[in-house]
Amino acid sequence: MLIAGNWKMHKGPGETAAFCAGLWELIGELEGVDVVLAPPFVSLHAAVEELEDSGIRVYAQNVHWAEEGAFTGEVSRSMLIASGVAGAIVGHSERRQYFGETDETTAQRAAAALEAGLGVIACVGETLEEREEGETEDVLRRQVGAIAEAIPEPDAALAVAYEPVWAIGTGKTATPEMAREAHALVKSIYPVERVLYGGSVKPENAEELLSQEDVDGALVGGASLEVDSFTAICETAARLNRS
Ligand code: PGA
Repeated sequence: MLIAGNWKMHKGPGETAAFCAGLWELIGELEGVDVVLAPPFVSLHAAVEELEDSGIRVYAQNVHWAEEGAFTGEVSRSMLIASGVAGAIVGHSERRQYFGETDETTAQRAAAALEAGLGVIACVGETLEEREEGETEDVLRRQVGAIAEAIPEPDAALAVAYEPVWAIGTGKTATPEMAREAHALVKSIYPVERVLYGGSVKPENAEELLSQEDVDGALVGGASLEVDSFTAICETAARLNRS
């Protein structure tokens, strides 16, 4: 199981350091679950320093495919590696929705990051309109297909996160059946080892979602901002993994 906290545009370096110290104290000994935290770029250093030797890995929320160049606002793979960062989230729906990220740029970012030895969480998922129009399968085939084309042989460092856009930050979650179906579909399109579920995962629904077949972890937004709720989700994953 992999539980990743996506902080989005929350927590500067000071808050990050305090959070990480608290998190390590609570889940330092937890077995059977890989834990990832993805703070904003400016807080990566604080997280890496605080979590050194903890086993908790720090990911960025994006990464560019080029080595360097005229790409204002972007960060390269080698910059992340030099900062002690272990991986990156790519293609999050907020990047797609608000910042013009496409299937192609998502796949390009993912392939380049893996090639450099970084871990990757590549996000896919349908909007409410697409679900209501019965297009979920087509959307997932297109999004996952682009990743598969760029990375024909998935390795263990790559996880796909299925995040129905209508469930992100809304308090609505996919039903366990919806999650199971979508995850099975992703795996049938592309033999990736881990498919994470994302979209309003909280301590109260973590067990129900994480116990579904083909749900190999979670990408957690809002509930990753508090040490207690994030810890509770990590503990649930560790418990399910053992049983
Ligand atoms: P949420 O966000 O848990 O706040 O819904 C999940 C995500 O966007 O990764």
